[in-house]
Amino acid sequence: MTAYSDILLDTPHNGVQLIRLNRPEARNALRNTLLGELADALQNAARDEQIRAVVITGSDQVFAAGADIKEMAALDAVGLWKDPRPTYWKAIRTFPKPLIASVNGYCLGGGMELAMHADIIIAGEDAQFGQPEINLGIIPGAGGTQRLIRTVGKALAMRLVLSGEFIPARQALTAGLVAEVTQPELTLKRAIALAESIASKSPVAVRLAKEAILAGFETSLSQGLELERKAFLFLAATEDRQEGINAFLEKRPPQFKGQ
Ligand code: HXC
Repeated sequence: MTAYSDILLDTPHNGVQLIRLNRPEARNALRNTLLGELADALQNAARDEQIRAVVITGSDQVFAAGADIKEMAALDAVGLWKDPRPTYWKAIRTFPKPLIASVNGYCLGGGMELAMHADIIIAGEDAQFGQPEINLGIIPGAGGTQRLIRTVGKALAMRLVLSGEFIPARQALTAGLVAEVTQPELTLKRAIALAESIASKSPVAVRLAKEAILAGFETSLSQGLELERKAFLFLAATEDRQEGINAFLEKRPPQFKGQ
């Protein structure tokens, strides 16, 4: 397995790869090395048929404190323009398998944007979400303004981005940013259990379901419905669909093979 410095990879278990952000000394700030490693790990996970879902987590105190402010300070506009970060974000954005973020503690700036790249966020009661870039004289730069308005609506998106204030996990849940709130000590366990449950489904159906839902961010309702219909028809040709239906009728658990 590739040796990384800023992330830790657990051995995949029950179809789930766990990725831990691991820069405790900098509150998991997303320096280029970390983001590049994360992009690389996800690209490997996308190719590995044994891996059917990925969970990404930080520490008990912090998911990620945002972009690495010290690294960012050294870059002028041209430096930022040449920066490889957008390619790393693209690799995260286009990861085709389910990505679950397990969030405890601070989830800020680019860290919150990373969590929003995940398909599902599970948060501990102690999690705090914020886009404090405004305090640095900048704005979110990895989709924060766009994903927030599509996820929580204008009122809260404006409040978070313009004021830099944080919101607690329960409010993030009510706002639709977070799928579930747990006791902090159970967050990762729950995220992994959910990932394992998803990993037991048909990988073809899961992939198309993710694609269809994400398309809803970008397309009109009629285009989205068309895409959903085509994906639905495509799945009718899979062995997994036959297996799922047979297993139901034979009153046994299905064995999906991704075919
Ligand atoms: C670089 C960071 C950092 C960051 C913390 N550190 N956040 N280094 N970039 N984003 C470093 C500190 O400098 C310090 O290093 C060490 O981590 C511990 O930080 P403390 O502040 O002492 O820790 P604590 O009191 O626990 O507070 C945690 C915190 C706070 C609330 C998360 O660190 C904080 O507010 N961080 C900045 C959050 C932020 O503004 N994020 C937005 C970044 S801009 P030393 O060497 O002093 O020990 C952004 C733009 C995104 O994300 C653009 C697209 C990606």
